[in-house]
Amino acid sequence: MDIASAKVIVTGGASGLGAATATYLAGAGAAVTIFDRDAAKGVEMATTPGISFAEVDVTSEDSVAAGVAHAVAQMGGISAVVNCAGIVTGAKTVGSKGPFPLDAFQRTIDINLVGAFNVARMAAVEMSKNDPNEDGERGVIVNTASIAAFDGQKGQAAYSASKAGVAGLSLPMARDMGAIGIRVNAIAPGLFLTPMLESLGPEMMAELASDVIFPRRLGNPQEFARLARFMIEMPYLNGETIRLDGALRLP
Ligand SMILES: NC(=O)c1ccc[n+]([C@@H]2O[C@H](COP(=O)([O-])OP(=O)(O)OC[C@H]3O[C@@H](n4cnc5c(N)ncnc54)[C@H](O)[C@@H]3O)[C@@H](O)[C@H]2O)c1
Repeated sequence: MDIASAKVIVTGGASGLGAATATYLAGAGAAVTIFDRDAAKGVEMATTPGISFAEVDVTSEDSVAAGVAHAVAQMGGISAVVNCAGIVTGAKTVGSKGPFPLDAFQRTIDINLVGAFNVARMAAVEMSKNDPNEDGERGVIVNTASIAAFDGQKGQAAYSASKAGVAGLSLPMARDMGAIGIRVNAIAPGLFLTPMLESLGPEMMAELASDVIFPRRLGNPQEFARLARFMIEMPYLNGETIRLDGALRLP
């Protein structure tokens, strides 16, 4: 898929990895529609040429349906989705205050896993209406897992389970949609310098970065954006989850 003619929804595009991806893809000539629940930051992002914004809660069917209609009206169709909307929740399965709060566990799965699938399935209906290219391709979906899908840490039961679910979407969704020419891949980022990670504080960030093998630093969100673009452009990459982590393996 040629990035300059791509019509891309970026969820979570008001912040962090999603914002970097929206800016990078729009800079390469793509039309971009951001879905985010943060209206203030989303509207600010939409001042960049090539980017429009729809206030969307990815967990809601009605909200995503309205967002997809907005994206089609703005861009004249949808050819790619980069799912970045997500939250992080930390609690032990049994902690000093009792068991992991079930509502927090369910909310994490709902946003990170169900939300990504919700947007992908509805956007894929629009993609299926696209004229196929010479390979028969009509669309591409890029989901965001995490290395926590594989090396989950203490306190990350909800987050790791949600991200393992996202990694688990790549192959069956690719199989489901091969016949209509839609590819599905996921990026499993290591540690990237975004507001989500900054919320941990400078000491924790420095400690985490010191475990990265090489380059020994946190990831730059634009490096995530470059892999998202590669996944959109590379026709033979399908059904795969790729780690982007400087060889970091969490203990
Ligand atoms: N930063 C990292 O180191 C890192 C590492 C691995 C995976 N990830 C994953 O990458 C993705 C992006 O993370 P980030 O670091 O950019 O975080 P971030 O907090 O900077 O951005 C997340 C965005 O998602 C939006 N969002 C949250 N819930 C939403 C909902 N229900 N509907 C619509 N939008 C919603 C937020 O408003 C925010 O703009 C997340 O899925 C995260 O789990 C991040």
